[in-house]
Amino acid sequence: MQRSANCALLAGSVLAKGMLPSLTQQATYRVGFAQTESDNPWRVAQTASMKDEAKRLGFDLSYTDAQGSTAKQVADVRSLIAKRVDVLFLSPREDKALAPVVKEARDAGIPVILLDRTINAQYAVPGRDYLTFIGSDFVKEGGRVATWLVNNARGKKLNIIELEGTVGATPTIDRKRGFDWVLAQYPPHKIVVSQSADFSRDKGRQLTELLLEKYPEANVIYAHNDEMAIGAVAAIEAAGKKPGKDIMVLSIDGGKEAVKLVLDGKINYVVECNPRFGPEAFKTLQGYAKGKSYGDKIVNQDRDYTPQTAKAGLSSAY
Ligand code: AHR
Repeated sequence: MQRSANCALLAGSVLAKGMLPSLTQQATYRVGFAQTESDNPWRVAQTASMKDEAKRLGFDLSYTDAQGSTAKQVADVRSLIAKRVDVLFLSPREDKALAPVVKEARDAGIPVILLDRTINAQYAVPGRDYLTFIGSDFVKEGGRVATWLVNNARGKKLNIIELEGTVGATPTIDRKRGFDWVLAQYPPHKIVVSQSADFSRDKGRQLTELLLEKYPEANVIYAHNDEMAIGAVAAIEAAGKKPGKDIMVLSIDGGKEAVKLVLDGKINYVVECNPRFGPEAFKTLQGYAKGKSYGDKIVNQDRDYTPQTAKAGLSSAY
């Protein structure tokens, strides 16, 4: 479904409950950005891209950092609503828990644009509760990893440890769904265990250490992000094995550190999840104010990094 600010205006007052608020055309805007955490390079790059674009346009950006706490992010969104920002950009740490504050913003007349992580339609509806979602296709990301893996198994039976991201986050749910669906079509390859390491490097290292002991038959680590993969590389080395050779490592994100590890042969394959949201996010805000229509999602196009392409891609990796 396509919708625009003008539709919202025609349909009723900007504060009508249960409707998308409109946005007037202004030379500058007061914009809120509620970030999930800032302790990894992906989040740092996303925040920098948002701040840089706001600065370039001369918009006033209020930034909050939930520091990995869903409860804090709920409070952060409420503080941005109280500040009466014109538009709210939100990267929801979890989907269900953030849905109520998305609706609170909407009822306060503030259009919300979801960035990078979405909220399932059973909890918040695009076009009614928020304008649109901008981000990667996480199901496709997981599927791309599985496809590359089975095509590069070299006759080996793959026993996979899957390191999941934050429980309840849409990239976790969808990266698992996409990977598992593709893999299920290629028996006898199988996932021996799948557990959350919360998108964290340290937790990725600790969990890999435990799981390698418990599942000595494991020969692949599929991590839902680079941070956990980098932690897994450290754990594999600590166990006296060669990451990328004895145990294949695959991940999603495409930060410089992971791409360098592909070049070093310690990570085998990375699907990019581009964190540079600023230009598209602010373009969408301005388009909406001009009356442009938007569908449920705007999907980012992502590259991948193989041993053959990592060198060429390194300089433009985040
Ligand atoms: O939502 C995107 C994910 O969140 C990235 O893959 C991860 O690194 C980040 O924390």
